[in-house]
Amino acid sequence: MEPDLDYPAISDLAARARRRIPRFAWEFLDSATGEETTKRRSADALDGIIFRTGVLKGSMETDLSTTFMDRDYPMPVGIAPVGMSGLMWPDAERRLARVGAELRIPYAMSCVSSRTPEHVADVLGEQGWFQLYPTRDTGIRRDILDRAKAAGFHTLILTVDVPVASRRERQRRARLTNPPKLTPSIIWQAATRPVWALGILRTGYPRLRLMDEYARSLASGPSPGESRSSTDHIGYLLRTAPDFEYLAGTMAEWNGPVVVKGVLNGDEAAAARDAGAAAVWVSNHGGRQFDAAPASADALPEIRAAVGPDYPLIFDSGVRSGLDVLRAIALGADFVFLGRAWHYGLAALGVAGARHVAHIL
Ligand code: FNR
Repeated sequence: MEPDLDYPAISDLAARARRRIPRFAWEFLDSATGEETTKRRSADALDGIIFRTGVLKGSMETDLSTTFMDRDYPMPVGIAPVGMSGLMWPDAERRLARVGAELRIPYAMSCVSSRTPEHVADVLGEQGWFQLYPTRDTGIRRDILDRAKAAGFHTLILTVDVPVASRRERQRRARLTNPPKLTPSIIWQAATRPVWALGILRTGYPRLRLMDEYARSLASGPSPGESRSSTDHIGYLLRTAPDFEYLAGTMAEWNGPVVVKGVLNGDEAAAARDAGAAAVWVSNHGGRQFDAAPASADALPEIRAAVGPDYPLIFDSGVRSGLDVLRAIALGADFVFLGRAWHYGLAALGVAGARHVAHIL
């Protein structure tokens, strides 16, 4: 196999990933919400950024390295938080954390991962960022943040663009539940993807292992072990509409850099900066939350203008190539994350596929 010839683009990895994982896992990874116009708009907006070219310049020195939020990176890209990563590929969290450490780029772990912070602690190296959805209960927040810190995560991401669940029509059609109910269709989908299925047998069925613990301790009424009650409780625990007071409380508790993720306008970015956020993450959640959201690339120039030239800005949503990274930087980003792309690579070719994503970028 020659990845550079067989899979020269991230879309090639996506095509192979689709053949290697069950339909419900693919639909979870690849889908957005509604008619997926925000997802398309995000990619189209990046495609629409063209450069003024130059020729006859003599030798060209390229240097991808950067210093961002007081840390040095060999290139300005990171692995965005993806919930239930382990559904896309067995033990994805640990594998991607390792890739992040090896490449010396950030690995952001979602609080709705299928693994706990402790499970990846020994492979994080210096690259651990932890993502939190605003918990309803600040005691749970304190406990999660203590655990993330103890596991070695140094930067906290507070994701603020999920006040309620979105509809995610493709996921509904694929009958995705957490954990997936073992209907004949789900079993068939898994059985026809043997490499995935055998891996899952080894690593255990993906569940929201961190949040399940809190959901269980709060569950009352139906048996706490029951999957439906557990999922409902996690939704109840995490789908909240946070405000600046919540952000202040989170910053006080984390006592380290806090990034606000999911901002799409200049006023709010400036307000987050003024409130003490270490960086703002310009994102429409890969089009998964609101199908009338602007493309991140369309929102970014206004946000850069609002926060000034030196304030750290992160960009994501729709990035599929090194050229897209360059486009985001040209529009005012300092650092760029990708969510789906790493999982396409991992599901296509295992860890080598995730490394290949970095190579392509
Ligand atoms: C996400 N994203 C996300 N974001 C977050 O803050 N917490 C989370 O748990 C998740 N979960 C999640 C699951 C899946 C399957 C996807 C695809 C995405 C959003 C993610 O961090 C990032 O904003 C987008 O993935 C960026 O868009 P691209 O790179 O996938 O186009």
